[in-house]
Amino acid sequence: MEIKIERVLKDMENIVAFTKTPGKGCTRFSFSSEDQQARDYLLAEIKKMDLVLTVDGFGNIRARYGGEELNDLPILIGSHIDTVANGGKYDGLIGVLAALEIIRVLKEENAELIRPVELIIFSEEEGSNFGITMLGSKVLTGKYSLNELKSIKNGDGKSVYDVVKDFGLAIDNVENEVLRKHEVDSMIELHIEQGAVLETEKKSIGIVQAIAGMKTYRVTLEGESNHAGTTPMNLRSDPLVGASLVIAHLQSVVKDSPLPTTVATAGKITCEPNLPNVIPQKVEFYIDARDVEMEGIDFVTKELFQKVNEVCKVHSLKCHIELVGKSDSKQLSPRIRKILEQEAIKNGLDYKVMNSGAVHDAALMSDVTDVGMIFIPSIKGKSHCPEEFSKLEDIKDGCQLLLHAVEALAVKKNVIHELQNR
Ligand code: GLV
Ligand code: MN
Ligand code: MN
Repeated sequence: MEIKIERVLKDMENIVAFTKTPGKGCTRFSFSSEDQQARDYLLAEIKKMDLVLTVDGFGNIRARYGGEELNDLPILIGSHIDTVANGGKYDGLIGVLAALEIIRVLKEENAELIRPVELIIFSEEEGSNFGITMLGSKVLTGKYSLNELKSIKNGDGKSVYDVVKDFGLAIDNVENEVLRKHEVDSMIELHIEQGAVLETEKKSIGIVQAIAGMKTYRVTLEGESNHAGTTPMNLRSDPLVGASLVIAHLQSVVKDSPLPTTVATAGKITCEPNLPNVIPQKVEFYIDARDVEMEGIDFVTKELFQKVNEVCKVHSLKCHIELVGKSDSKQLSPRIRKILEQEAIKNGLDYKVMNSGAVHDAALMSDVTDVGMIFIPSIKGKSHCPEEFSKLEDIKDGCQLLLHAVEALAVKKNVIHELQNR
């Protein structure tokens, strides 16, 4: 079976138009009007195929192909459609559109399935609204209670609960909709690599072995606002100076940290009152720490707490450090990896088994089922920016490999063939 790449590109062109920042990359936050437009488009495509649709109380979409007569557990394929601010076209969307196209092909070919194939689209993967990545798959896999969703707020002080409810979703149901272990057979996510390894090594496909874990900390430093001209340097307690010392320290210690895979980023900072001639009163910044080894994240945590305490003593600042998001590093399923490798070899694809430094919904899903991930190259390793780009032939190879894996897991004649070849 073969996917029709022109249909994937047409879907992509249509959805990419739903952006808050035309000409400046894609900005499509979950629960925004652009998100609603993308959802309407996808739901119309799903309707054309007569799939069995469910949308949970957090907006995670599942669309099942392959009749109620099949008792076997479904295989899930998909990703997310939300973006960071001024992000790229491919992150998440390509995995959703590949899955949609694969279901179209299975339907057109009247494929005889032994298990249903489901498109899954996760809400709020990027953490753009609340600073918590993969919130949709976290809610789906039971990581948050309704009460916790009432207490997490966005920058405007509005809770997750209220934002999702105002978007028209039945968020009160989410605790009853948690996906438990062994309720689905497996999940495969196709995604762009978002790094430069595949391009550098001239491989067209990555098969993911492990996904990095992460911790996101919100650090608040409070000092004393005062006049920039009249306050002597030795009589200041300046939280922006404190923040810059902490950020510079992390950059230098993590660069030489015991594990080469550890990374730490300060990507968001706010300052009050944020005026050129006023010593700041309060600074809030985020530290995003990641590694495939949890020891790497522990190292950043230890350095962060020590340095904040030290800086606060020296500069007479008050501090508060809060863990706002976390996900553990995850090994993906050897069963699914084997199928992906077999299919890549069969189809002459030059692949690399690799780790993911970016986090993905697939990591959360691996708590409840067997998960695999396929990467395609990102040109110059660019992602989360308007320059994000993947080549047509790589997109095609990635979609095709996902289709072959679905065939091996769910299409009757291929499953028998796979079993005979074991
Ligand atoms: C999500 O895309 C992340 O890796 O931050
Ligand atoms: Mn993504
Ligand atoms: Mn992303």
